[in-house]
Amino acid sequence: MTDRITVEGVYKIFGRSPESALAMLKSGETKEAVLQKTGQVVGLSDVSLSVPVGSIYMIMGLSGSGKSTLARCINRLIEPNAGRILIDGEEITGASEARLREIRRTRISMVFQHFGLLPNRTVLENAEFGLKLRGVPAAARRKKVMEVLEVVGLASWANHLPGTLSGGMRQRVGLARALATDADVLIMDEAFSALDPLIRSEMQDELLRLHRTFHKTILFITHDFQEALKLGSRVAIMADGMVMREGVPQDIVTKPGNDYVAAFTRDVNRAHLFDASSVMVESSPLRLDGRASGGRDAEGEPVFIVDDSMQVVGVVGPRQLPCLADGSAIQSLMSKDYETVCGTEKLSVVASLCHRDRPIAVVDEGGRYLGRVDPLQILSRIGAPAAASSQSRGAEA
Ligand SMILES: Nc1ncnc2c1ncn2[C@@H]1O[C@H](COP(=O)(O)OP(=O)(O)O)[C@@H](O)[C@H]1O
Ligand SMILES: [Mg+2]
Repeated sequence: MTDRITVEGVYKIFGRSPESALAMLKSGETKEAVLQKTGQVVGLSDVSLSVPVGSIYMIMGLSGSGKSTLARCINRLIEPNAGRILIDGEEITGASEARLREIRRTRISMVFQHFGLLPNRTVLENAEFGLKLRGVPAAARRKKVMEVLEVVGLASWANHLPGTLSGGMRQRVGLARALATDADVLIMDEAFSALDPLIRSEMQDELLRLHRTFHKTILFITHDFQEALKLGSRVAIMADGMVMREGVPQDIVTKPGNDYVAAFTRDVNRAHLFDASSVMVESSPLRLDGRASGGRDAEGEPVFIVDDSMQVVGVVGPRQLPCLADGSAIQSLMSKDYETVCGTEKLSVVASLCHRDRPIAVVDEGGRYLGRVDPLQILSRIGAPAAASSQSRGAEA
């Protein structure tokens, strides 16, 4: 996959002599030591990451860890002291002022925590603001903005003032404003952090839906680990201006790699994080005519029966299996006593099927057989590790 944003060894020091702080950091001194010895604040220390095109990339960290500083370096509101930042391969560190203005105007849109709406302008006027800045003529921007307001469910509010809207609706206006522009990078700095938990959860679902519609690359900043796992295709966890761990959510939770990250993973609801495919055994089904489709299954396990288009039509229990060998027709042996789940179904749903004690087949979006669920695997997937330190040892092994 190609990268939309590349950050390479970026440092940002807030202080009068960044060179001295840089030298200290590079010789292994901490942010704390730099502050004590030089009075300078380390914003970013040797940050490197790659944001794939079309991903939702989460920057997660506690307050003061450097998230906003990183976002500001990427849209070049502030200048890093060292390192390179590239957008679609173009180095923007060192670009001219004019080129930077152009990039900010056309490539990157921001969505802010406190919405940044003008109180005495209507929803429509606020939403079209980004397009107005880009010099889009009135008629064209109205058309575009009304389309986007429709998608975020605010079309009937177009002529209302922001003050008459709830927090969630105001943030939808902020989102609409960013989505209406042609910018293919959206930076959302704690965009949902000010919202009440229920509204926030709705907005997260909304963002995932919009992401499927608009295909933008989203750099999403949050201090909430759960939010990072729910939204992120990848997550970078920051502390003291450094990236402590980077990867896909499932890997971060199963292999945190260090105790700092492990502490965040302890309370994660793994049943919401992992899907059916993560507990799937790739066993081969039998065709209705008795032909095996692939290799043989493990003994003592049920075998699923599929038709010519790989749709599951029945299951044969382990005790009936030996009868197949003596030529009994599959039709008479198989039962309809099974469940099917899509491979992308979360384990919270899959687990709820287990109590019926029927075998569970995993199918793809088109209903084609992929494998079967091993209920014991569900237990080991959703159980949290006993101790963080045993986890990190496991990760090193
Ligand atoms: N303009 C600034 N001047 C001095 N220190 C700053 C400035 N902006 C941020 N910092 C410091 O840089 C560090 C990272 O801040 P920030 O990026 O805002 O963190 P976050 O967004 O993760 O809460 C903090 O220690 C903060 O105090
Ligand atoms: Mg911040």
